[in-house]
Amino acid sequence: MRVLLTGAAGFIGFHAASRFLARGDTVVGLDDLNPYYPVALKRARLAELAGHAGFTFHEMDVARPDLAGALGDGTAKLDAIVHLAAQAGVRYSVENPHAYVHANVAGQVSVLELAAARGLPVVYASSSSVYGDDSPVPFAEDAPAARPVSVYAATKRSGELIAHAYGQIHGLTTTGLRFFTVYGRYGRPDMAPWLFTDAILAGRPIKVFNGGDMERDFTHVDDIAAGVVAVTDRLLARPDATAPLYNLGNNRPVRLLDFIAAIERAAGRRAVMEMAPKPAGDVTRTCADIALAARDLGYSPTVPLADGIADFVAWFRAYHATAR
Ligand SMILES: NC(=O)c1ccc[n+]([C@@H]2O[C@H](COP(=O)([O-])OP(=O)(O)OC[C@H]3O[C@@H](n4cnc5c(N)ncnc54)[C@H](O)[C@@H]3O)[C@@H](O)[C@H]2O)c1
Repeated sequence: MRVLLTGAAGFIGFHAASRFLARGDTVVGLDDLNPYYPVALKRARLAELAGHAGFTFHEMDVARPDLAGALGDGTAKLDAIVHLAAQAGVRYSVENPHAYVHANVAGQVSVLELAAARGLPVVYASSSSVYGDDSPVPFAEDAPAARPVSVYAATKRSGELIAHAYGQIHGLTTTGLRFFTVYGRYGRPDMAPWLFTDAILAGRPIKVFNGGDMERDFTHVDDIAAGVVAVTDRLLARPDATAPLYNLGNNRPVRLLDFIAAIERAAGRRAVMEMAPKPAGDVTRTCADIALAARDLGYSPTVPLADGIADFVAWFRAYHATAR
């Protein structure tokens, strides 16, 4: 299989690309390498991907309106597009909403235009944040998801609605994946697993929001990458029997304080905790109903939190070994 994979230098994109490449698929990677977090980490991921003969890379803004022309031969003989590029992060969307509209809304349109021009199926990333703070728990794909509490969530929900419209207009087959708080090696420096591990290892205090009364359905990136590959295979083999949206979560929400305790155990150090109010835009709880993904994709998360955190902390130490 030959896939165009956007966001290839990103956390999930890197893991998904690695999984396609490991089984012999060809990956045309695309990413603009923007400095939302250290570009050195994005380049380190790309350096690993470059070790595979089947990987090529385009440094490019996915939202450019002439995406098909700009990629040129890069889009020849593609079988599918896996669109994971986005401006991620709930909190930064309070500060810089325009970055989200550009990457997540204009970017979605550019990818769908390319797909329509080439007649390609699209798997794209959405987010558990579309469920907001008032969807019934566990979150199921048929919830209205009409009351987002952050601009990030609103742009991700917009991306889903735009994909639906392209299905109506151009007959495109698309599947959106609502990821639930993904963690693992090569993770994102703006997310809690990284921020907490960094602070705990350095003896700095961590901010604990909402008195610790928050829950996240933490999902290991290996399980997410397996889900991305499985849904791409399914969309190619049985486009009519693939749902337009799947939750990819863990269905085992973890309390924030238990999550911190898991990092403390892996790091061998105690956290210094500073209580702070819940930031605007954050939801209190996420919990995925994964029955649909289990039924259609055979999706079944395998990595227990303690193992995933231990692996992440070991990776984090090794990655920073030269800097510390
Ligand atoms: N990590 C999570 O917990 C999580 C949860 C829900 C949804 N998601 C979604 O999954 C996808 C991947 O997220 P991630 O955690 O790997 O984030 P990430 O920031 O590590 O990866 C996104 C990549 O997209 C690239 N990018 C951003 N704007 C671009 C543009 N205009 N043109 C080209 N490239 C651009 C970035 O440089 C980055 O490398 C995103 O769509 C995100 O919204 C992630």
